[in-house]
Amino acid sequence: MTTPVLRVRDLRKTFTLHLRDSLRLPVLQGVSLDVAAGECVALVGPSGQGKSTLMKCLHGSYGADSGEVLLARDNGATLDLATATPQEVIQVRRREMAYVSQFLRVVPRVPAIDVVAERRVDADPAANTLDDEAHAAALARARDEARSLFDRLNVPQGLWDLPPATFSGGEQQRVNIARGFIQPATLLLLDEPTASLDATNRRVVVQLIEEAKARGTAVVGIFHDEEVRDAVATRCIHVRHDA
Ligand SMILES: Nc1ncnc2c1ncn2[C@@H]1O[C@H](COP(=O)(O)OP(=O)(O)OP(=O)(O)O)[C@@H](O)[C@H]1O
Ligand SMILES: [Mg+2]
Repeated sequence: MTTPVLRVRDLRKTFTLHLRDSLRLPVLQGVSLDVAAGECVALVGPSGQGKSTLMKCLHGSYGADSGEVLLARDNGATLDLATATPQEVIQVRRREMAYVSQFLRVVPRVPAIDVVAERRVDADPAANTLDDEAHAAALARARDEARSLFDRLNVPQGLWDLPPATFSGGEQQRVNIARGFIQPATLLLLDEPTASLDATNRRVVVQLIEEAKARGTAVVGIFHDEEVRDAVATRCIHVRHDA
């Protein structure tokens, strides 16, 4: 058997609420899971049980009390995201790990097309040289890819060159999805990617996830929409802290 892309071992995470007399809230109490290339694991469980918290630990946004989050890197090394330095986390986020958060957060005034294309440029070694021409060519390629994703996700063409701050919830979510999927990744994390989408666009997202799996990407997702979950998940993991 091949080594899983992601191995989580006995992960524990407690929040300390300083405004409430340092009340301790144990959320993850020994989570272990493996995710192989081409697999999509769905995190399921009632609201407030720790699904998003686990996702943020996988993304390296939250540290843990103990346990490991082991990512198999492209270079054959293994990185423990639970203890990685911020520099290591930034590095794997650039090329190996993509994350679609529930809400779009962007730098103001950047057009939607570049919000997406920049993510692809960051991952392109050809673009990260001092050669201006190579950088311009990489940006042009990335914009083409961004346009084709917008096209598939039915983002109205009139919006492509506008900053997404004033877009509707569903439009912002599709920009966010395009930004996650444009990035080459061995691990793709999806937190409610279809929450504000209509049926047509939900189907597009299902196709995008299937294509990522077929490329060998390991996917971990939270999908409240059971139809989407049934369509894409190869396995479900139950997350609960009050069990
Ligand atoms: N940064 C934080 N500081 C303190 N408590 C937090 C923090 N983030 C989450 N929590 C608490 O941890 C618990 C789990 O939250 P989390 O967002 O992981 O749940 P969830 O399973 O994703 O829920 P939902 O399905 O509603 O999105 C909740 O009780 C929440 O209040
Ligand atoms: Mg959540």
